[in-house]
Amino acid sequence: MQTFADELQALRAEGLYRSMRVIGGAQGSSVELDGKRVLLLCSNNYLGLADHPALKRAAVAGVELGVGSGASRLVSGTMELHERLERRIAAFKGTERALLFNSGYAANTGIISALVGRGDAIFSDRLNHASIIDGARLSRAGLHRYQHGDMPELERMLQEKGGKGRRLIVTDGVFSMDGDIAPLQTLVQLARRYQALLMVDDAHGTGVLGASGRGSGELCGAMDGIDIHMGTLGKGLGSFGAYAAASGTICDYLVNKARSFIFSTSLPPAVLAASLAAVDLVDSPEGAQLRAQLAANAALFKQRLTAYGFDLMGSETQIVPVFVGPAEATMEFSRQLLEQGLFVQGIRPPTVPAGSCRLRCTIMATHTTEELEAAAGSMRSVGTRLGVI
Ligand SMILES: Cc1ncc(COP(=O)(O)O)c(C=O)c1O
Repeated sequence: MQTFADELQALRAEGLYRSMRVIGGAQGSSVELDGKRVLLLCSNNYLGLADHPALKRAAVAGVELGVGSGASRLVSGTMELHERLERRIAAFKGTERALLFNSGYAANTGIISALVGRGDAIFSDRLNHASIIDGARLSRAGLHRYQHGDMPELERMLQEKGGKGRRLIVTDGVFSMDGDIAPLQTLVQLARRYQALLMVDDAHGTGVLGASGRGSGELCGAMDGIDIHMGTLGKGLGSFGAYAAASGTICDYLVNKARSFIFSTSLPPAVLAASLAAVDLVDSPEGAQLRAQLAANAALFKQRLTAYGFDLMGSETQIVPVFVGPAEATMEFSRQLLEQGLFVQGIRPPTVPAGSCRLRCTIMATHTTEELEAAAGSMRSVGTRLGVI
């Protein structure tokens, strides 16, 4: 029998071993890594809200209500702040109701395994996030995965698969490792035509995309056709946790059936208070200004990298993958960038398919033009040295 140590050694040999880097001090657009200041190009804190004074003040005020919630929501862990935040999110998303989950991972596994089960069918984009795949597996429904963004293939599957059970189409709004946006208008039409529910995981669009930050659905003009808006509070919103925004009936059903909701201690008050402040901020003129800055920053960075000859894999957002290919070369690229003061993670299997390893650069509204120009220049010199461009 192979030991755990043997398996870890095999991962090292394949260039697939993973370990954590420790940030000293606060999250920001630059951070301290091993005692050295580096530009942060791998955080999902897109708007810079994780260390925003308004969120920090709200969290401190929230602590007055205690540091923990003490129980799960259905026991004694529902505080007024949970309900206030859920009402605020529902108003923001334009749905009847919203329900909090403790993380995006917990939301996807809980929502999907509650809404469908044996005899039902899930239609899922091949590049959907791991938490969607895990939710689908947990549900025991038939899982039908269509090629990334391939709407004709999805339609064929909807015609041929699923029988008489419930049908759920589920997609990332913004694909987390590719930075492109799902064809939401077409997905809405297909869901209606084939009587399927449509669930959109907008972990990377919430707060960031659309004129008022409501996400990829707003950007695509598809908000009303989405049955379950899943979003996270720990990325663009700078806090922690996640939600499902949907009809009153679906949310009520999730309260009764979603195991990750039922069997887990609820989010603590400081986190809820910070999330409330985050939604208010995203929904304010300051939020609009941060979104505009983020879009301008992403456009500048992508323009420079494209001009230098990098393959950005069709990115349409602030998530900018830079194609490298093999795992070893990707990690070497990342290591040499760190020497130049740039913190960028290499992405390898199982997160992405073998042979499509990439650097995943993420842009923040709080990066300056000078920082991004210099970062693109460093990527050019390392990329040239390693033969990537
Ligand atoms: C598309 C997508 N969905 C869900 C998640 C999970 O969210 P969380 O980090 O809140 O668990 C992530 C984050 O990694 C993600 O990228």
